[in-house]
Amino acid sequence: MNDENSPLLIKASNLSRHYQVSGGLFKKDVSVKALNNASFELRAGRTLAVVGESGCGKSTLARVVTMIETPTEGALNLDGHVISGDNPLSDEQRAQLRASVQIVFQDPFGSLNPRQSIGRIIEEPLLINEPTLSASERESRARQMLSFTGLRSEHYERYPHMFSGGQRQRIAVARALMLNPRILVLDEPVSALDLSIQSQILNLLIELQERLGLAYLFISHDLSVVKHMADDVLVMYLGRIVESGPAEQVFANPRHPYTQALLSATPVADPSRVQHRIRLEGELPSPLNPPKGCAFNPRCWRAEDRCRSEAPELAMLNTHKVACYFPL
Ligand SMILES: Nc1ncnc2c1ncn2[C@@H]1O[C@H](COP(=O)(O)OP(=O)(O)OP(=O)(O)O)[C@@H](O)[C@H]1O
Ligand SMILES: [Mg+2]
Repeated sequence: MNDENSPLLIKASNLSRHYQVSGGLFKKDVSVKALNNASFELRAGRTLAVVGESGCGKSTLARVVTMIETPTEGALNLDGHVISGDNPLSDEQRAQLRASVQIVFQDPFGSLNPRQSIGRIIEEPLLINEPTLSASERESRARQMLSFTGLRSEHYERYPHMFSGGQRQRIAVARALMLNPRILVLDEPVSALDLSIQSQILNLLIELQERLGLAYLFISHDLSVVKHMADDVLVMYLGRIVESGPAEQVFANPRHPYTQALLSATPVADPSRVQHRIRLEGELPSPLNPPKGCAFNPRCWRAEDRCRSEAPELAMLNTHKVACYFPL
């Protein structure tokens, strides 16, 4: 999984997604900078974790990468194709790219149609993308995929309500894999599951990655989940990347006060390691009206005047990148 020469599947440069929202009666519209100036890369067989509190822009990033939404600024290169407004793809290229970037959502019940059988659900991508396949070919591919994802062939005729949360998430993964994607965007894939089931799904994902060489963009608010999975990490705060780099470096040596606070809230397995929990003061600010300067400054114990007036850029500091004037 450490192959730096494996194909570059995602290259995002200064990617932004802003939303215009109504400012209220008699007020001007305001722009929510849900994703601001994000740059990162993801190679085949690797896992890039995206972490941060609710509302920091993780799902917005997922929607842009999966082409559900177009970026308002910046460039996105997916599997060698440039996705941007001024260089439209042909319909065929777009369909091909959509097939190669698939998404799995948090809530496996909400994302599966309760009135469709499992077979129907996981064959749906084939019906749309490979219309020349016969019904029996589709069925055999679906049954194979069921066993590939740890389900059983006889589950084909059953309905979503007959399955546990973990099994439903396996079904969602099976559906996502039907078109042989190269990239899976996993948006909080285990957050709705019990702890014991979480590790089963994580192990399934690790196994599938090894067998298929998939690239994962793994979104989670829970650092203990991504610790086992991630090769690289992006830490987001109010739409911006505040720290990024190899997972080992970011976890062992967090430089941004926000990353350190997030990590201090994660339980450690080794009881001999003394852990001082950092309590973040104050609420997450509204993205409609973000603080001036560094967005984290009102909650930061290291903030000085400069942090309240200017926003720090993400820049390399020894082992990895951090956006902070007074890094740890
Ligand atoms: N369509 C939209 N219109 C306006 N604002 C939006 C829209 N989608 C997202 N936002 C805002 O953008 C910000 C980022 O939202 P996003 O869903 O990406 O966060 P998230 O990190 O996935 O949060 P969570 O952990 O709760 O899933 C939030 O403030 C959200 O309210
Ligand atoms: Mg989200």
